[in-house]
Amino acid sequence: MQHHNPGAFPDGFLWGASTSAYQVEGAWNEDGKGPSVIDKATFHDGITDFTVTSDHYHRFKEDIALLAEMGLKTYRFSIAWSRLYPDGDGELNPAGVAFYQQLINEICRQGIEPLVTLYHFDLPWALQQDGGWSNRRTVAAFERFAITCFEQYGQQVKYWLTINEQNMMILKGDVIGTLPPGTPDPQRTLYQQNHHMMLAQAKAMVACHQRLPQAKIGPAPNISCIYAASARPEDVLAADNFSALRNWLYLDLAVHGRYNNVVWAFLQQRGWLPTIEADDMATIAAGKPDFIAFNYYASATVSADMPEVARGELNSKQQADQQMAGIDKTVYVGCNNPHLKQNQFGWYIDPVGFRITAREIYARYALPLIVTENGLGAFDTLEAGNKIYDDYRIAYLREHIAQLRLAIADGVELFGYCPWSAIDLVSTHQGISKRYGFVYVNRDEQDLKDLARYRKKSFFWYQQLIASNGTTP
Ligand code: BG6
Repeated sequence: MQHHNPGAFPDGFLWGASTSAYQVEGAWNEDGKGPSVIDKATFHDGITDFTVTSDHYHRFKEDIALLAEMGLKTYRFSIAWSRLYPDGDGELNPAGVAFYQQLINEICRQGIEPLVTLYHFDLPWALQQDGGWSNRRTVAAFERFAITCFEQYGQQVKYWLTINEQNMMILKGDVIGTLPPGTPDPQRTLYQQNHHMMLAQAKAMVACHQRLPQAKIGPAPNISCIYAASARPEDVLAADNFSALRNWLYLDLAVHGRYNNVVWAFLQQRGWLPTIEADDMATIAAGKPDFIAFNYYASATVSADMPEVARGELNSKQQADQQMAGIDKTVYVGCNNPHLKQNQFGWYIDPVGFRITAREIYARYALPLIVTENGLGAFDTLEAGNKIYDDYRIAYLREHIAQLRLAIADGVELFGYCPWSAIDLVSTHQGISKRYGFVYVNRDEQDLKDLARYRKKSFFWYQQLIASNGTTP
């Protein structure tokens, strides 16, 4: 653990920013890339697809130069599995390997530490057609893909993330586009898929440690602070249920190699237990993360039961968005939190919940933490002179960083912070108009315009903040 003043960001703190391949690259079928589940998914009318996105594939040098200008210490991005293996586990595509080599060279040349996510929602379509994560074959395919990444890029990449938001793929795969419509018996299927992803993650962690003794690797779930709607014991129990199902199942398996008992009982009662083969639990236990990365946007509030849930509006809102709790009437019911403001998309803005979340994760697992996503999606406006005055984003980030500083004062070991997103990119299901970046990308849902890059007000603010290692207000 690094020594530092209480409440100050330690020396060498990794100020960063994040993207994912399918949301930023475009070039969805260029240079031999195979399709992914996202390329085959259908999204709402009027919202852009993922074919061009921010065209980072062709403009990465310009983008990395902007990130260097902002002063990033680290840049988190993902490797599109189907660029390397167009069929998921067939022939290796040299053009795909070369693209990420050039990207990593450029990141390193600019003095930025690469932080690589192996898999961010974009499962190769060829594997999906063969059952995707329901098929154990995908475990071996992922291990092979991960080993290829370690072998190709391990000399330059020290920090690795296994699977982005596995918990969101299990709980909200229909919303984010990773669960193909019409999947039969989804609940049973999903917990089997979850088990396979856990095996895949563990194998990747073992392979990383064997091949790259200096490297560090960890999971990257979305962890949220869960409140009880009241001090009524039944509500507190519901919050505990939802925390287990949403947060701890994934980290208990990744860190301790065991199923969370509350979730196990929940699955057993419903007949949703996964098939576990003889060596599986030993395999999962053998994978040891060096740190925990987590994404945090919002908190969620649940009750045991609530009259307002009868109202269809809340019901559909709870189900249709990944940052809402959702509803399983037998164990928890997502509900509103009157103490918090919401963003333009209904997500609860909760900086104090961020501090609570960091403390909870550290208390449970005692591993170093890095934040790999946090940020505000908003409808930015391009003003005269190509200016973007995103003071609301600055306010969100400032308040969350202030709470991180307090978490450090609480004794939480935190070594980096990577907001979402480095530059504008396409949201999982709400298009390019829901912007997160420090850099504006000049296009809209249907008109690609010139895809020019403009520095937002938040770009200059974050630049100053990094230069002062988090001490400027
Ligand atoms: C996380 C994902 O769920 O949140 C990102 O890892 C995603 O891929 C981000 O973009 C914000 O969500 P959304 O739905 O607003 O894009």
